[in-house]
Amino acid sequence: MQILFITSNEHKFKEVKEILGSFEIEVLHQKMNYSEIRADDVEEVALESAKTLFSIIKKPLVVEDTGLFIDVLKGFPGAYSGWVQKKLGNNGILKLMENESRRDAHFKTCVGYADEKGCRTFVGKVDGRISIEEQGKQGFGYDPIFIPNTENNTFAENETLKNRISHRFNAFAAFAKWYKA
Ligand code: IMP
Repeated sequence: MQILFITSNEHKFKEVKEILGSFEIEVLHQKMNYSEIRADDVEEVALESAKTLFSIIKKPLVVEDTGLFIDVLKGFPGAYSGWVQKKLGNNGILKLMENESRRDAHFKTCVGYADEKGCRTFVGKVDGRISIEEQGKQGFGYDPIFIPNTENNTFAENETLKNRISHRFNAFAAFAKWYKA
């Protein structure tokens, strides 16, 4: 089985290739920059992107949108995680969290799937906390400051583990089970 994954993010492609590979689904990559709608929720973004891209490409495809949601910051940066990563970076987030003991956060990924019959979404989440400082060099984005609840290390310290328990794994695993059924 195969599926087309549209993304301009090489890190996401690498992770999704490995995740869907474990479900015996081959991932075909189309690198494409597309503009996303502005919305507070990753589900809305993924659904709209899947619909729009299917109307252009006309082949069954998946896209995904991911956000980091920090409880004490009322869910910030959430669906604006890409913009915030560019403007503030991890050090900017750590600065906002300085002297803060409530560090709970979660990552949420929404996979948007579209074909000629319509669209579907699949959500995956992982709970964790924001570290005190950046730790680790693997992965990308917020990985060096996110420690999943089951662990003592950040995602950036253990990429192999990330791909087994991450928000992206949970979302794509849900997609894979439906796609193969
Ligand atoms: P996007 O809008 O889904 O591309 O993601 C927004 C931003 O969140 C990205 O630019 C990354 O900085 C960050 N991000 C997305 N997924 C991850 C992840 O798995 N780990 C760490 N950061 C991520």
